Amino acid sequence: MTCILHIDASARENRSISRNLSAAFMERWLAVRPSDEVIRRDVGKTPPPLVSETWIDACFTPEPERTEDQKKVLEPSDTLIDELARADVIALGTPMYNYGLPASLKAWVDQVIRVNKTFSFDLARGDYPLEPILSGKTLVCMTSKGEFGFAPGGIREKMNHLDPHIETFAHYLGVAETCFVNVEYQEFGDLRHDKSLADAIQDVIALAESLTRDLAA
Ligand SMILES: Cc1cc2nc3c(=O)[nH]c(=O)nc-3n(C[C@H](O)[C@H](O)[C@H](O)COP(=O)(O)O)c2cc1C
Repeated sequence: MTCILHIDASARENRSISRNLSAAFMERWLAVRPSDEVIRRDVGKTPPPLVSETWIDACFTPEPERTEDQKKVLEPSDTLIDELARADVIALGTPMYNYGLPASLKAWVDQVIRVNKTFSFDLARGDYPLEPILSGKTLVCMTSKGEFGFAPGGIREKMNHLDPHIETFAHYLGVAETCFVNVEYQEFGDLRHDKSLADAIQDVIALAESLTRDLAA
């Protein structure tokens, strides 16, 4: 049985394009593999807490020496890391907000990328002391953007701090393979947007089919 962690980060519950994409992906996946386990994490609806000084101190305090306050402040992080560790596939629906991650998704990332839990740190490794502890996961990232031209070679490539950021931190989530499906032009609401959306829906369905086929092989 494969485990899919389904995350949505849009603040919108209605008319959210990224939620529609991740829902279409999940629906197709479960049509093929109904027995797979799904963990649902809606950070758009319920954002994780922001990290604090107590949180950082707690992370760097050896587990047996943690105070009750330190244990408590790490509880959300422990839960989110357990969910991540169980997942083979992460199906992430996210908008672009101000050219980057929504704050709720950044809060999730800060809670799950944690020393001695999801990465190890060793200066003996020289210039790259961090190494992920988790491995072998597939990330399917489904985004929606109001403007357009964010892909490589596009007119807003340099303004895209969403996809490159996700690709960079995905390594520390234990992701081995990342697939992106993007909708653009939402703010224009014209035929270009209709086409971008229709193509993306087709692409997420095709992706669910090809990933489930790989698992069956
Ligand atoms: C707070 C906020 C900030 C946004 N910033 C950007 C932006 O920087 N660039 C962009 O192309 N679209 C931006 N948008 C538009 C969204 O990316 C677009 O509406 C997208 O469809 C939202 O995802 P959703 O449909 O899943 O809610 C922004 C929207 C909001 C609400």
